[in-house]
Amino acid sequence: MESTRSVGLSESQRAVREHYGEVACRAGQAGGSQAQGSEAQAPGGQAPGGQAQLYPSADREALPAQACSASRGCGNPLAQAGLREGERVLDLGCGGGIDVLLAARQVGGSGHVYGLDMTPEMLALAERNAAEAAVSNVSFIGGLIEDIPLPSGSVDVVTSNCVINLSDDKGAVLREAWRVLVPGGRIVVADIVLERPGLPAAMRRAAACILGCTNDVLTIREYEGLMREAGFGEVVVEPYRRSSWQSLEAKAERRGQQALLAQLDPQQVDDALASAYITGRKECIIS
Ligand SMILES: C[S@@+](CC[C@H](N)C(=O)[O-])C[C@H]1O[C@@H](n2cnc3c(N)ncnc32)[C@H](O)[C@@H]1O
Repeated sequence: MESTRSVGLSESQRAVREHYGEVACRAGQAGGSQAQGSEAQAPGGQAPGGQAQLYPSADREALPAQACSASRGCGNPLAQAGLREGERVLDLGCGGGIDVLLAARQVGGSGHVYGLDMTPEMLALAERNAAEAAVSNVSFIGGLIEDIPLPSGSVDVVTSNCVINLSDDKGAVLREAWRVLVPGGRIVVADIVLERPGLPAAMRRAAACILGCTNDVLTIREYEGLMREAGFGEVVVEPYRRSSWQSLEAKAERRGQQALLAQLDPQQVDDALASAYITGRKECIIS
């Protein structure tokens, strides 16, 4: 595991790293007595059981408890990725390693899965989880998703689960994902998007922040545009779970974010944000 130095991090990256460092520590403590899918919230607003309820119970049961309690995704990208035996996969912002461990099983001993994250506490937790799961075809790498420390054309699939919204340079993340993919390789991301482009900017940022997207969110059209600018073809952005006003209100109240809540118009923000799957392919250039 390479180390992640804080020099060179932007202010927002530092804030994200500090937050997820705390999440990793809490998950490490809570893991032994996990409550998967619990509605109860730990400080910072995350369920101590994490977001593992997004995965089939058979997957959860096969994982170390702390991989589930650290889970902070907004979907199950592996359900969309169609991984095959022998493939090389890179998970951007792997956190405690839930998607890395599940992918490792799917690609088998002839495949390999890299988990990239900038938070040392998350990487340490992911390493412990991989050891506990006795999974050996994985490597955890310290670094930034905006500057991926892997050679060009080195992986078949890039996955990511609720991470790209945290970046202050989402275009750079997608360009880097494209660079490390082999021609014909695919990207499968779960992320939060804005379905209602007309929402006033202040309201959009406040609602995104309540959902934990501290660096704003992209509209579907913006996401598609950045994917295409990065070089991806076959781009699809498919929302699958909308955030109702009631769910935003409940989250904000649990987290003590009344000031953010006060900026929202219930009618305008109801169902405006959604979890979505974003997929694309690095097309082969035939000359
Ligand atoms: C919301 S959590 C998701 C973790 C994991 N994908 C999951 O589903 O549980 C976001 C993770 O991305 C990492 N992260 C956020 N921004 C990053 C960046 N710019 N470079 C590398 N890692 C980043 C954080 O450290 C954290 O572990």
